[in-house]
Amino acid sequence: MRQQIVAGNWKMNKDYAEGLKLVSEAVHMIKDEVRDDVLSIFAPSFIHLHSVAQLIKDVPNVEAAAQDCFYEQSGAYTGEVSPLMIRSTGAKFVIIGHSERRTFFNDTDEVILKKVNAALECGLRPIFCCGETLAEREAGKQESVLFAQLSSVLFKLDDSEFSRVIIAYEPVWAIGTGRTATPDQAQEIHRFIRKSIADKFGKDAAERISILYGGSCNPANAMDLFSEEDIDGGLIGGASLKSRDFADIVKCFNVLKRKAYL
Ligand code: PGA
Repeated sequence: MRQQIVAGNWKMNKDYAEGLKLVSEAVHMIKDEVRDDVLSIFAPSFIHLHSVAQLIKDVPNVEAAAQDCFYEQSGAYTGEVSPLMIRSTGAKFVIIGHSERRTFFNDTDEVILKKVNAALECGLRPIFCCGETLAEREAGKQESVLFAQLSSVLFKLDDSEFSRVIIAYEPVWAIGTGRTATPDQAQEIHRFIRKSIADKFGKDAAERISILYGGSCNPANAMDLFSEEDIDGGLIGGASLKSRDFADIVKCFNVLKRKAYL
């Protein structure tokens, strides 16, 4: 089965106590109630990461992720957090290349590639984000933009490195705007991404990789998005801040068919 995943990206939200409360509530709602090929991931801020990772340690199919990392493992980089430090908390995933990092913090493709390599080096699985802006979509350039983002980072990995990556397609115009891509629009790009991967890494690698959709995904639209053939779950921002909404999104899979590959 191709792994189906719902990851909650809290961004810069929730104080320490609120974050722990959110995870406890959501875990209580999803524990033992979700299909075994569905992975739930919490991506809180760094201040929560260790506590969240410990809280979910013995819960099957639930993991913790960081929202970013630096590309060196240690040293004089005031304010930064390394993949090695993230790994030591018990978190196994890290979001890299989110459009907010690209826009506000100058994470270029070159920086993103270094971060992906550093994460893989110490055993973290990167959740690599890509997506076009509104202007790029209106100019009909979404596929070329996506292809360039994939080529400059993921296509530089070897087969075994690539097999550890998760992709999140997040059209920038849909993030936090309430304007979701339609299931057809999202599926079209997910298929394009999978086809590009098949051309580069082979059909088997393309069939195995989980490709998530992100951008105003919520309990009302998740089911339609996740039932598309090439959409393997979601990277959820706003709706992941409410335990009930996050749990409802994860539970969408309970009524959907499993996605077998090959
Ligand atoms: P959103 O954010 O669900 O609030 O649109 C998604 C994301 O940025 O990962």
